[in-house]
Amino acid sequence: MKIALLGYGKMGKAIEQIAVNKGHTIVLKTDSDTYTVQELAAADVAIEFSTPDSALTNIKKCGDAGVPVVVGTTAWYHQFEEAKSYTESKQGGLFTATNFSIGVNLFWKITEQASKLLSDYSEYEPSIDEIHHTQKLDAPSGTAITTAEKMLNQLGRKNEWVHHENGIGSISNELELSVRSFREVNVPGTHTVKFGNDIDSIEITHTAHSRQGFAAGALKAAEFMVNKTGIYTMNDLLNL
Ligand SMILES: NC(=O)c1ccc[n+]([C@@H]2O[C@H](COP(=O)([O-])OP(=O)(O)OC[C@H]3O[C@@H](n4cnc5c(N)ncnc54)[C@H](O)[C@@H]3O)[C@@H](O)[C@H]2O)c1
Repeated sequence: MKIALLGYGKMGKAIEQIAVNKGHTIVLKTDSDTYTVQELAAADVAIEFSTPDSALTNIKKCGDAGVPVVVGTTAWYHQFEEAKSYTESKQGGLFTATNFSIGVNLFWKITEQASKLLSDYSEYEPSIDEIHHTQKLDAPSGTAITTAEKMLNQLGRKNEWVHHENGIGSISNELELSVRSFREVNVPGTHTVKFGNDIDSIEITHTAHSRQGFAAGALKAAEFMVNKTGIYTMNDLLNL
């Protein structure tokens, strides 16, 4: 498989390592959007891990080049509808996930079931904590936002999530779900869902020990996307 790496930072490099070991070829790697559509068209699939401001342009260029794209970048999802309709207008392929790790996707399933179970136990206050490395541009993480959305869908007693940066602040009414973000050196990504009160608490934690899980999942998604058109996400890849 010929791969274009759009974004060659920590994730781009981790993906390259696994891809080359599996016998795939990297035909383009870039840290800017100055590559041409012709250069991109040499790839069977593109993998996009760049910055929130770059994702939409890169996705559109993939549509122009007729190359399906797997997007791992977070904090660009306010532009998702534009990306989707542009891709569809070009009969292209788009795969998005705020987290490619199989472990996190299992963590989401467990969280949904726990949220459903605890929906009627209002004495247990739900919250989400996320910790990432200090270079991370966005907060809360895309994974924390997805976790919050999944919890809100199951918890009848909450209707919006609110961000508490560095854990400062608290909910102003009982309909809010607190999402606390923390930044510490060398943390690939830790997410904890907590249901607690003064007496006791129940916690579900996913800890990434390296970027390998994200990179392997993105590569698996890229293999899935070759010659595909349409819009996909992890539920299409994993039978969860
Ligand atoms: N979905 C997941 O599983 C997952 C996992 C880890 C990280 N991420 C997300 O992926 C993104 C990248 O993470 P990272 O840790 O590799 O960050 P990083 O800062 O190490 O790398 C991003 C790279 O993109 C480059 N870049 C800037 N503008 C660009 C453009 N227009 N086109 C192409 N590249 C451009 C930067 O120069 C940099 O090298 C972030 O949004 C992060 O939150 C997602």
